[in-house]
Amino acid sequence: MNILLTGGAGYIGSHTIIELDKAGHSVVVVDNLVNSSEESLRRVSQIIGKPVPFVKADVRNAVAMNDVFNEYSIDACIHFAGLKAVGESVAKPLEYYENNMNATFVLLDVMRKHNCKNFIFSSSATVYGDPAIIPITEECPKGQCTNPYGKTKSMLEEVLMDLQKADPEWNIVLLRYFNPIGAHQSGLIGENPNGIPNNLMPYITQTAVGRRAELGVFGNDYDTPDGTGVRDYIHVCDLAAGHVCALQAIERKCGLAIYNLGTGHGYSVLDVVHAFEKANNLKVPYSIKPRRPGDIATCYCNPAKAKAELGWEAKYGIEDMCRDSWNFQKNNPEGY
Ligand code: NAD
Ligand code: UD1
Repeated sequence: MNILLTGGAGYIGSHTIIELDKAGHSVVVVDNLVNSSEESLRRVSQIIGKPVPFVKADVRNAVAMNDVFNEYSIDACIHFAGLKAVGESVAKPLEYYENNMNATFVLLDVMRKHNCKNFIFSSSATVYGDPAIIPITEECPKGQCTNPYGKTKSMLEEVLMDLQKADPEWNIVLLRYFNPIGAHQSGLIGENPNGIPNNLMPYITQTAVGRRAELGVFGNDYDTPDGTGVRDYIHVCDLAAGHVCALQAIERKCGLAIYNLGTGHGYSVLDVVHAFEKANNLKVPYSIKPRRPGDIATCYCNPAKAKAELGWEAKYGIEDMCRDSWNFQKNNPEGY
């Protein structure tokens, strides 16, 4: 298939190009580079041994998106484009609602005008809020999101469900990602956050490489085995492969489908720190800090539905994730 990847220059999108290429799909990337750089695409080209067609455009620009659909014959879209920093979304709610909602509305409208009705959406475990069931299945009711970023994901899921109900020609897969970490084994591409990282693994790798003095562990009084927050970390290459399986579901005309993409294993903050130290033979200095507002104690999934219906399951373990995250960071101490 010919696949449009919006936000394809970003962390998850760049890894997904490689998996799509391996599976024999063609891609075109649209990105405005607000949180990425074209260097990631140059490196992906190096890995796959061919150029990655790229259009620098904002997905909110209907004229530009229309041109993309006129120029390329697109069978399906994977919509990664969006702003994703939780703290920034609390400070700039209007910017987050405007970007994430409008980009999706414009894209869906252009798609239907070109009769392209196959869509994969980058959703998040954040839609479960403080989850009612652990491990989280797709039947777990959605919860209260504590920030505008999470609310855009939850609201866009509702929009997409309404759209598919109104027009059953659409095939829409909502992929709820758990916590992607790791990097491509080549060490050429990986996570490259702007400024001070918000998420755990980039903070650990930047501490290990000497860019940060120490890791702050946000709370050790949660109701978890060691008191620190428990999450379902998933290797970004496993996550990327999940998109290829979701495309197969679309080819089978799945209508609306929702899948958790996680490993089903929960690791605490200190588990990750220790796994990182062991995998890379390094020390990560840390100290215990107060809880981070909006955090929950435990979040990990039951990935059985994705295995049963998509034939997808995570292959990599926490050591692989720690090794590959570090491999990217040490080869690219200042990022791209
Ligand atoms: P990322 O920031 O690396 O990639 C997103 C890309 O979208 C960036 O390259 C950015 O430049 C682009 N973009 C943003 N707004 C745009 C617009 N209006 N027009 C064109 N391009 C635009 O983030 P990522 O980690 O690769 O995440 C990809 C998607 O997955 C996002 O929608 C994110 O919310 C979602 N997600 C990520 C995680 C995670 O932990 N990384 C977890 C759950 C869901
Ligand atoms: C965060 C977002 C969530 C988003 C997800 C994936 C918040 C509140 N939630 O989830 O919406 O979908 O990223 O992008 O930001 N931690 C530390 N020290 C740090 C950083 C993190 O102790 O410097 C802890 C956190 O308290 C948490 C765990 O590490 O227990 C994982 O944190 P993080 O990587 O930010 O992911 P989430 O909070 O799960």
